[in-house]
Order: sequence, then structure tokens, then C-alpha cells
Amino acid sequence: MSSVDDRAAVSRRLKAATSTTHDRLDARILRARPFDSLGNYATFLAVQYGFHSVVAPLYLRADLIALWPDLPRLARLEDVRADLADLGSALPVGRDRPDLSVVTRPAALGWLYVSEGSNLGAAVLSKAVLRLGLDGQRGARHLQEAAGGRMLRWRAFTSVLDALPLGDADEAAMQQGARDAFGWMQAAVEADMPLRS
Ligand code: HEM
Repeated sequence: MSSVDDRAAVSRRLKAATSTTHDRLDARILRARPFDSLGNYATFLAVQYGFHSVVAPLYLRADLIALWPDLPRLARLEDVRADLADLGSALPVGRDRPDLSVVTRPAALGWLYVSEGSNLGAAVLSKAVLRLGLDGQRGARHLQEAAGGRMLRWRAFTSVLDALPLGDADEAAMQQGARDAFGWMQAAVEADMPLRS
């Protein structure tokens, strides 16, 4: 007999599989006080640049564009690049970057879930950054919501994800992809966002 969780949508199970990891990441980012100064925020932007550089190839994969035709215009790497330029920050030197153009589709879906889901948290961050005088025109472009709003975009993403015919092995690989994405980000934050006393 299947449990309630077994019957929940794929996206709900992804959330359940990664919520502890998400909360640990979110807390670690905030402990570095990214919105206390432009210097602190620049360290956050550098980490975001790394993450969006890693996930950018996903937005060009034919097998994912077949599912979400507007995917290419949803990538945020160019926005992060412009945010860094607004602050006069140099482009960060790359750290270890997996090549997501060649991973299996389930793994790619897990990474894409994390990238797209991070738009929900960006609602909070886009307000916090206002205190630094930054917004969607300057320094915080990548945190802005897409046309139609964050929830519309999120539902468009999850409704396709939830309708995919995925076997148990696919789903396990997808959840591992999502954990890898959070793990990559956690390592980047720990390396590049120092804690302020
Ligand atoms: C200080 C930083 C962050 C804060 C405050 C934050 C906050 C949030 C909030 C409030 C939500 C919505 C939760 C809900 O509706 O239940 C969310 C969702 C999400 N965030 Fe974050 N977040 C942060 C950073 C990140 C980062 C860096 C990533 C990934 C790189 C990320 C990935 C996600 C994902 C995947 C979801 C979707 C969860 C779902 O399936 O509903 N978040 N975040």
C-alpha cells in the first residue's frame, strides 16, 4: 500500500528530500550577513555567479527545452554578470564546475529543480537587498521575478516535472542531482562567504 508521501507529486518529494539541506544552506548564507554591506553582498554575488555558471548549460539542453520551450530565456547567468558589473566586481575565478551538459536527464532535472526553486527564496532576498540601495535595475537583477510572477513560473515548471513518467531509478537519480546542486552551493558558500563576527 502506498503512503501519502508516495502519492505526492515528484516536486513535493524533491522538496521533502532536500528541505534539511536547503535550510542549512539558507542559514549559512544569512550568517554571513550578505545584506549588511556592499562588500558582503559582493561575496554572495560571486557565489551566485559560480552556481549560475554551472547550471547555465541546463538551459540550453535540447532534452530539457523539449519539456520547457522557454527555458533558454530563463537562465540568470547574464543577470548575475550584470549585477557584478554594477558593483564594479571582477568576475570570480571558477571553482570546481561539473559539466551539466553531459549528465543524465534525471540528474539534470534535479539540478534544474534547485536552480528554478531558488527563484522562490529570491523573493525574500530581493527585498532585503533594497537596504543596500540595489534593485532590479542595479545590482540585484538576478533576484527579480519573471514576467507573470514567481508562482506562475514555478507552477509552469513543477506541472511539467510532475507529469513526467519517471521510474524509481530516475527519481533516485533526480533527487541525487538536487542534493549535488545543494552540496555544490554549500561548499561554495563555505569557501567564499566568510562569517562576520
Ligand atoms: C538566504 C538564502 C535563502 C533564503 C532566505 C531562501 C528562502 C526560501 C524560501 C522562503 C522558499 C520558499 C519555500 C516555500 O515556499 O515553501 C525557498 C524555496 C526554495 N529555495 Fe531557497 N532560500 C535561500 C537560498 C537558496 C539557494 C542559494 C538555493 C539554491 C541554490 C535555494 C533553493 C531553493 C529551492 C529549490 C526552493 C524550492 C523548494 C520547493 O520545492 O518548494 N534557496 N527558499
